[in-house]
Amino acid sequence: MNESTAARHESNRAFYDRISVAYDLLSDASERSARLAGLEALALQPGERVLELGFGTGNEILDLAAKVGAGGQVCGVDISTGMLAVARKKIETAQLSAPVDLRVADARSLPFADAGFDAVYTSFTLELFPDEDIPLVLAEVRRVLCAGGRLGVVSMAVVPPGEQSSALERAYVWMHRHFPHIVDCRPIDLETTLKAAGFRLARTIPLEIWTLPVTAALATAPA
Ligand SMILES: C[S@@+](CC[C@H](N)C(=O)[O-])C[C@H]1O[C@@H](n2cnc3c(N)ncnc32)[C@H](O)[C@@H]1O
Repeated sequence: MNESTAARHESNRAFYDRISVAYDLLSDASERSARLAGLEALALQPGERVLELGFGTGNEILDLAAKVGAGGQVCGVDISTGMLAVARKKIETAQLSAPVDLRVADARSLPFADAGFDAVYTSFTLELFPDEDIPLVLAEVRRVLCAGGRLGVVSMAVVPPGEQSSALERAYVWMHRHFPHIVDCRPIDLETTLKAAGFRLARTIPLEIWTLPVTAALATAPA
């Protein structure tokens, strides 16, 4: 990690630590349905092993655990200890049957063996990484997925060619460019990004949050 990447990583971690307790209030009402669309696209089966990158407050960890059940396994990584604490509390309360293993770790360097997961899920996290780091994250996803394993991603999306961006979209992108420490995400071309990383796109679902385009995508690793 070079110096500026390390500084950005540290500022992301501190930012998510600070907002972890209020995060559900800030984001759940607007983002939850998009997250569920990505999760449904993954079509998890009982007994599967699934990993979530950037699990945040853990809402989808609960959903993943319900889908894979007692015979499955749910793992998650997030860089924020604050998010981990919030997620752990929910998991304790929910008394899940599936084993859940949440770790503070960086998605660019996953602490898991090769080919150990049937599926990977991530929402509103890939678009936080600088352009040069997204291929590193996706290479790690490919490494830990079994042959033909599935990746479900929900992310802010670029405005489709020929369509007009909304005033809010333009303001959001401007804010990200000028104040990335406040608006840390930006829209990405998810389809192109996944294909460039060697995934096969199986399905994309166009969504919208307050006029901002969002995409839920299902992709598969090479068999
Ligand atoms: C915008 S939040 C999304 C949380 C959750 N997935 C959701 O949709 O509500 C991004 C999450 O990614 C985590 N994160 C940021 N950088 C990360 C990294 N390098 N590795 C793992 N997690 C990271 C943050 O701590 C935060 O919990």
